[in-house]
Formats: sequence, C-alpha cells, structure tokens
Amino acid sequence: MKLAHKKNEVRHIVSEWRARNLRVAFVPTMGALHEGHLALIRQARQHADHVVVSVFVNPTQFGPGEDYQQYPRSLSADVEQCRTEGVSLVFAPDYEEMYGRAGAPQYVSIRISKMHEHLCGATRKGHFEGVLQVVNKLFLIVRPDVAVFGQKDIQQWFIIRQMVEEFDHPMEVLMGPTRREEDGLAMSSRNVYLTEEERNKAPLLFEAIQRLSQRLTGVIRDSNNGDAGIPVDESLIKAEIERLRANGFKVDYLSLVSTPDLQPACVIHSGRLYVIAAAVWLGKTRLIDNVLLNTRKYPDHDA
Ligand code: PAF
Repeated sequence: MKLAHKKNEVRHIVSEWRARNLRVAFVPTMGALHEGHLALIRQARQHADHVVVSVFVNPTQFGPGEDYQQYPRSLSADVEQCRTEGVSLVFAPDYEEMYGRAGAPQYVSIRISKMHEHLCGATRKGHFEGVLQVVNKLFLIVRPDVAVFGQKDIQQWFIIRQMVEEFDHPMEVLMGPTRREEDGLAMSSRNVYLTEEERNKAPLLFEAIQRLSQRLTGVIRDSNNGDAGIPVDESLIKAEIERLRANGFKVDYLSLVSTPDLQPACVIHSGRLYVIAAAVWLGKTRLIDNVLLNTRKYPDHDA
C-alpha cells in the first residue's frame, strides 16, 4: 500500500493503473476511521481492482464555531487500518497541497440549489458547498470509476450524486449502509465527543426515527389510495420530537423528505423513495441519522 501526500503522486499512480485497464474505487474520508468507513472500503473493493482512500479534514465544510479544530485526527492508525483492508493507496494531502497558498474558495465555487435548503443545509450554511468543492477536486485528482459514501450523510450523498450527474463525472456513486453499534447508535467519528451519560441516551435517536418509519409504513399499508398520495400526519413527527426533547436532546430537525430533491414531504406517493432524517444535539455533540422509506414495493415494502 502507498501513502501519498501530493496530488501528482496520486495522478501518476492512478494513470498507471488506468493504462492497464484496471478499475479504481474511491472512498473519501476525513479520517478517524471506524467500522463504518471500513465497511465502505470493503464495499469499494468489490467494485474495483484498486481502492483509494483519502484522508483530509476539509476546513471549507466547517462553519464558524463548528468542530474543525477538535475533529479527531489519527493518520497513522488510519493508514494501518487501510493497509489491513487491502487499500492500494491512501491520499493524505495538507491544506496547502489541497487548496494552494491562497486558500479556498478564491473565485469559483459550486452553487447548489434547493437540495441544501432543508435538513443539515438549513443550519450548516455553506457546508455542502464546502463538501462539493473538495469532493469535486478529489474526483478530478483520483478519477475513480466508482466512489462510495455512507448513507448516514444522506443529504451529502444525494447532493454529490447530483453533482456527478450534472458535471458528467464518468463514474458511479454508491451508497454504503449505515453501520451501527449494538444498541443502534450510528457509527460516527464524532461519537467520541459523547460523555458516558450522553452515550447511554444516544440510541434514542435511532429508536425515534425507526418508530416514525414504522408508523408511517403502517399508515401507508392501511391506506387504499396509495397512488393519490397519503397525507403525512405531522403529529407523528411532532410526538417523536417532543419525546427526544423530554430526554434532553436539542432537535435541529426530524423530517420526512422526498428524494432526490430533499424537500419536506406533506404527502407520500406510492412508488417513490423518501427519507426520514434527523439531526440532534446531545450536549456539545451533533448526531445525525436517517432511514429510507421506500414506497416502491408498496404495499408490501419494509422501511
Ligand atoms: O463525509 C465526509 O467524511 C466528508 O464530508 C467528505 C465526503 C470526505 C468530504 O470532506
């Protein structure tokens, strides 16, 4: 396995693979790798001859007052985990290598419309522009055939996939399922911030999302007018928000949105894919999670 800190090293290595018609899969990360990332790497390996992992804590996607400085960094452990997982190349640039001396953005950035208005985009202004800025650069450096991103960051996944489509990146974007601790908490590099008491409460987030999903699924199943659309009973969402608040969570959002536009859904139509997504604060830690509500297999689907 190779560790590269420079873009040109990566370009050189990948172009040699390409010259031999080998397929390249890519897993972009901010490091502090955990089982969730390793599962994405294993998924990537199934689709290519070589897997590239990038490790870069991208400052342009953190807002003022967010956790850019505190974000866990563990490059040597990450590199060892990548080696064990059969990764061919780890790309770990520093800020200047990524953005040049002048920093970013200088004159050009990618504008997103609509898809960033709700969910995390509503409170994390500029976050997804920062994500697209770095992911677009990474795609142009690595030129993968396929990239894998986790379902946990579902809004990010849909926005990146849209960029790939609209910018004609000749590649596929795959979604890796969310990996969970035994009690249901979605794995995240930020879970290390939780105190013991917060850690014990944290699984209530997934429980709330799952309960909401089951209730909505029940309503859909019991309804006879799947094609005309079933109005969403907002009181089901409000009840889960109240329950989380009563347990000490500060709720940024708990919403049902349609895909791929990520707009709040007031009506559920049969044959479409929706997402129930939430972001909450437990003390100083922001947790996100989601489940897909797939009405495509209506009426016998599971959420
Ligand atoms: O999901 C992440 O870890 C980051 O947002 C990403 C995609 C690596 C871009 O910095």
